[in-house]
Amino acid sequence: MNVIKVKDYQEMSKEACKIVVEKIKELDRPVLGFATGSTPIGLYQCLIEEYNKKNVSFQDVTTFNLDEYVGLAPDDPRSYYYFMMDQLFNHVDVPQENIHIPNGVTSDLEKECHDFEESIRKAGQIDLQILGIGPNGHIGFNEPGTKFSSRTHVVKLTESTRNANSRFFDSIEEVPTEAITMGIETILECKEIILLVSGENKAETVAQLLNGDITEDFPASALHKHNNVTVIADEAAMKYVNKD
Ligand code: F6R
Repeated sequence: MNVIKVKDYQEMSKEACKIVVEKIKELDRPVLGFATGSTPIGLYQCLIEEYNKKNVSFQDVTTFNLDEYVGLAPDDPRSYYYFMMDQLFNHVDVPQENIHIPNGVTSDLEKECHDFEESIRKAGQIDLQILGIGPNGHIGFNEPGTKFSSRTHVVKLTESTRNANSRFFDSIEEVPTEAITMGIETILECKEIILLVSGENKAETVAQLLNGDITEDFPASALHKHNNVTVIADEAAMKYVNKD
C-alpha cells in the first residue's frame, strides 16, 4: 500500500485531482469510481475547476458510484445520486447515460445489485476508484463483518454509520436503515484505488488500516490484498502513524 502524506485537506484534494485528471488523459475511455461523503468534495471542486480551465473533459468518461441509500429517490437532496449531480456531474460534460449510481427505490433490489455488477463488467472494469473510509473501517457501505468475497449487495447500516451520517438529515430517525453497496470483492477488482483520509477524527482508523491485521472486522484492511492502492492522508489523519 502506497501512502502519500500531505499537509491538509486542500493538499489531499489537489493530489487526488492530479491523479484523476492524469488518468482521464491517459485512457481513451476511462472508467472512474466515485464516492460520496465529506471527504471527496474538495476533489470534485478541483475537477470542476480543471474542467472550467479546459484542462480536462469528461466526454468519454464512464462513472460508477459506490453506494446509495435504500428508499431515497434520485431527486431527494439526501440521496447519493443528488449529491453526485450537485457536487460534480451537473458541472462537467459527463454524458448522463455514462453515470451509474445504484437505484435505491427499485422494487427489485436484488436485480438492481446484479445489473450494477453487469454494467461494471460491460464497461470493462473500473480503472480508478476513489474511496473514503468510515471511522469503523467501512469502505462503501461494507460494514465490519462483511465478507471479503462480497459483491454488490443490500446492507443493514450499523448504528455508528447512521449516527455519523445523521448530520445530513434532520434527525437520526430519518437516516435510512439500508443501502446498496459495491461489495469488497467488487472494489478489489478495480484496477487502481485511491483512498482519501483527512482529519484527526480518522487518525485511529488510519493507524489501524496501516498497522492492523487483515480482517473482515475492519473492511478497509482488504485493500492490503490489492496491488495498486494509494492512501492520500493529511497530517491530522496520520497523527498516530510514523511517516515523514
Ligand atoms: C460514501 C462511502 C462511505 C464514505 C465514508 C466516509 O460513498 O462509500 O464509505 O466514504 O463513510 O465518509 P466521510 O467522507 O463523510 O467521512
